[in-house]
Amino acid sequence: MKVFIARIYQKILYIFTCLIKFREPIILKKLDEAVEVLRKHNKKNILLLSGKRVCKEEFYIYLDNLLKEQFNVLNYTDIPSDPDIESIEKAVIKSKEYNVDAIISIGGGSTMDAGKIVAARLTNNKSIRKMRGLLKITKKPIFMIAVPTTCGTGSECTVASVVTDLERNEKYAINDPKLIPQYAVLDPKTLLTLPKHLIATTALDALTHAIEAYIGKSNTNKTRRYAHEAIYLIFDNVEEAYKSHDLESLELLQLASYDAGIAFTKAYVGYVHAFSHAISAYYHLPHGYLNGVLLPIILEEYGDCINKELQDLNVEVFNNTDNPHDFIDKLKELLVNLDIKNNLCDIIKDEDIPNMIKHIKKEVYPLYPVPRYFSDEELLNIFNKIRNIA
Ligand SMILES: [Fe+2]
Repeated sequence: MKVFIARIYQKILYIFTCLIKFREPIILKKLDEAVEVLRKHNKKNILLLSGKRVCKEEFYIYLDNLLKEQFNVLNYTDIPSDPDIESIEKAVIKSKEYNVDAIISIGGGSTMDAGKIVAARLTNNKSIRKMRGLLKITKKPIFMIAVPTTCGTGSECTVASVVTDLERNEKYAINDPKLIPQYAVLDPKTLLTLPKHLIATTALDALTHAIEAYIGKSNTNKTRRYAHEAIYLIFDNVEEAYKSHDLESLELLQLASYDAGIAFTKAYVGYVHAFSHAISAYYHLPHGYLNGVLLPIILEEYGDCINKELQDLNVEVFNNTDNPHDFIDKLKELLVNLDIKNNLCDIIKDEDIPNMIKHIKKEVYPLYPVPRYFSDEELLNIFNKIRNIA
């Protein structure tokens, strides 16, 4: 019955998303163009939002100097990875004091997600907890430009923002088309100093977005095309970018991340993300790393119901017409080449698993159009596989 209701809910949502044309951000290719845009829109007080690593980078200092020639700039550099409600609220309070009328959110998914929520909180008198779920943002957030500085997340073009609720040991999404930034700057020079392990893990996050969107049940021709393009680009470029910081490969990964973002903002993600959020809320592990480790395990658990999708990807990405599950082997090979190892067996504690399963089910039902739903026994079995005890 629960599955039936979830599928009906997803069908209604699917029809709604087919009828509503989601806005996409306007793409800018250089940081300087962001300054022009702010001037064109008559903005005065700019919040430059980042984390501690990015604010020391040359590209950040360059942008900061350019902005300060023409605007009042509030530099808020304390956004942590996996932003929690309290950290976001601190940025909101500062922004109110400063009468911020535009945000440049420069960083990875955490910073862009935080930027979206700050933008929404500045116009909506509603707590972050009350924004949880779908379509809970009433008023249009303030003007925002997103500048991704990693190879993943796609947050610059999605309806979603993920926040951590430390008090409740939960990590959840806020989904609303109003959260889509007005502009996104895709300048690959911001990736040149990205540590190589972050190239790998953020690209794996983007790959997970694309694959979960592709195998899910709420695809359209457009989301399938974007997801396929992203999967192809990531397999084709991530190893080179990881080895050498090659600018062209980084640029194509940035594009892949954007494409994957467009795909999953309409077609959603699935169990990989639900497991990843639940585990990360307990043990604070990086999102992209978890997705990379979980992706082949969960694809295998889906079994034959995703054969057609895996076979399509096998043919289109690897020109391979053999066993559909060869695609999962290619994925495992990629993880080895990116030095991603599963270290979760000593981290996940038996006593936390029942609660994590509760969080996974809460995240998946009724929103995620997964290829099939897992029973409690299967969910437990996946945890055993993750911990190498199955
Ligand atoms: Fe993700």
